[in-house]
Amino acid sequence: MNTDPTSGAVGAPRSRIEGRLKVTGAARYASDVPMPDLAHGWMVTATISRGRIRDIDAAGTLAMPGVLGVLDHRNAPRLNPRAGNYFGPDGSLQLLQDDVIPYAGRPIALVVAETPEQARAAAAALRVTCDVEPHDLDFHLEHPAARPASTAFGPEADTGDMDAELAAAAVVVDERYCTPEESHSALEPHAATVWWEDGHVYAVDSNQGAFSVSEVLAALWSIDRERVHIRAEHVGGGFGGKVACGPPVILASMAAERFGRPVRIAVTREQVFEATASRPPTEQSIRVGADADGRLLVIHHRAAYALSPLAEYIEWCTEQAKILYAAPAIRTQLTAVPLDILPPASMRGPGATPGSFALESAIDEVAERLEMDPLDLRLRNQPMVAPVSGLSFSSRRLVSCLREGARRFGWTARDRRPRSRREGPWLIGSGMATTSFGAGVFPSSASITAEKDETFTVSIGASDIGTGARTALTAVAADALGVGTDKIRIRIRIGDSDLGMAWGAGGSRGTTSWSFAILEAAKKLRDNLGDPARPVTATADTTAMINFQPDRERQTYSAVFTEVAVDTATGEVRVRRLLGMFAVGRVINPLLARSQVIGGMIMGLSMALHEESLRDPRTGRQTNGDFAGYHIAAHADVPDIEADFVPDYEPQDPSGFNGLGEIGTAGTAAAIANAVWHATGTRQRILPIRLDRVL
Ligand code: MOS
Repeated sequence: MNTDPTSGAVGAPRSRIEGRLKVTGAARYASDVPMPDLAHGWMVTATISRGRIRDIDAAGTLAMPGVLGVLDHRNAPRLNPRAGNYFGPDGSLQLLQDDVIPYAGRPIALVVAETPEQARAAAAALRVTCDVEPHDLDFHLEHPAARPASTAFGPEADTGDMDAELAAAAVVVDERYCTPEESHSALEPHAATVWWEDGHVYAVDSNQGAFSVSEVLAALWSIDRERVHIRAEHVGGGFGGKVACGPPVILASMAAERFGRPVRIAVTREQVFEATASRPPTEQSIRVGADADGRLLVIHHRAAYALSPLAEYIEWCTEQAKILYAAPAIRTQLTAVPLDILPPASMRGPGATPGSFALESAIDEVAERLEMDPLDLRLRNQPMVAPVSGLSFSSRRLVSCLREGARRFGWTARDRRPRSRREGPWLIGSGMATTSFGAGVFPSSASITAEKDETFTVSIGASDIGTGARTALTAVAADALGVGTDKIRIRIRIGDSDLGMAWGAGGSRGTTSWSFAILEAAKKLRDNLGDPARPVTATADTTAMINFQPDRERQTYSAVFTEVAVDTATGEVRVRRLLGMFAVGRVINPLLARSQVIGGMIMGLSMALHEESLRDPRTGRQTNGDFAGYHIAAHADVPDIEADFVPDYEPQDPSGFNGLGEIGTAGTAAAIANAVWHATGTRQRILPIRLDRVL
């Protein structure tokens, strides 16, 4: 139902360009690209959460078959300690640089051998002794070390007179919500194949942004970025866990330099859990007050998340409190708690996903106390302008999502009272939630060449981590060049840092940012197409253009409706229906867009019911760090999912694309928790909604 005034290639459903390569096994990933003279590295990781390495006895390891050597803090190449990320120096990158153990799972040595099996066996024989120091993993909102989070993503909200509004409220919900540490769980474990040649380093790496990885690796080695060549042509998922310059590419670059050979590190699933990244746990306190007519008067959202002292990080749980509802008083307070944990990284709708679970559960509780329909409550409190910033919305089709979702779901037939439906041993309930996710454009560069043979080559440092970005960008280029993808061939080159500066596949801003650069390059090329001497190349850099709507609040929106069945004997929760309506701007490819948001909704379902990293309090090691112990939704957990997009076209926006990488995930967990309440009459304020929490 996307009504798009300029539909051509954009708007048409097409399957993935590289689909055949993937299903036939011809697509090469970072751990299977052919490489002569390849050596293999195996990470040895810390088994305690805090302490120092006293000794590493490598004698036995070095005597084992095929072993080339062992790198540890005593002999590894020195890295630039100032190398970092967006926030500044990042100690999580400083692998093998000192004897400090800052978290369980920290890589503390790398064994290099002729085969992966030899490296793995030799790594198991390495004798590491440590001095154990007391660690702190005791996460909670009132932790004495809690400190205000960085406001680099935006200021805290503090509007209106909160105390006066609370005093005037007919109902006040004041509750706490907890979400556990979670793991990204991309299908392809992290891996890198790295070699050096003439002072240049080359890597085939599994990441979400080859350009930014090349910048960080160049900083670590203190070499020009032009000497770092990162390729990530095919990537088997990331979900935020592969945004960083990860341990495989850093450690393999060290080993390749030391041994003068290409080195590959392919980590195990267990190492993905312990040594790459996770979503931190959150604890959130929400106070929402409303008058008797269901007008919200106050939203007070306090949220805490854990991080590592090694690097700054923001789990921006309080973002939606500033966007979703009109209320005279809105206050947010985001708190970071430094603990001895694996440094967190953005995961599947960072901040917004745990944040919306808390906020949208609390809104549902307000509806319960007011004996009001939760959909009506939400419709009654829609703001005309962004409630905290005061900016106008670029487009806000949230009400369309709510109304159309409710219509398709059959929401109005629902009996509002909890425990009102039973089928044998099952209690049946339905629930809903809504959410927003920030949209925007980041600087990228692109070049397009009109070749002699009438084809076009589009080059952009984009990443396709399984989303279909390659296919979407081809459609964008086809329309921008005024050619059909079928008539005139477009060759698209992505996934290579040599293609120039580009935003990564992250923050739901990849395709939007890359499209912007492609549109600009195409515009320039069309101006030159009269030039008879092909090839003609046009390049664009959008750095100066991206802030084209500084006075608009730019967000995507969703409304999620669900029906659950709860087994009163076992506490098992089954999601029977899941329906999402989304407003994400223009939809480039409805087939791939639907796949992406239903994938996101499955992640939200998985978060609601299954996912939770558990740690042994004595060692701080994760006790369920594999797919046997860390449960994610499997096919049998997933019902038929309905997902669609409301028309959302903003004529002032040069591309009209707003991104849909994360909006599918963010609103789903609250909808399910609200449905479980409707089924059982019991609120679920702690995720996941385990059997023992239901009974
Ligand atoms: Mo996304 S969690 O910003 O890769």
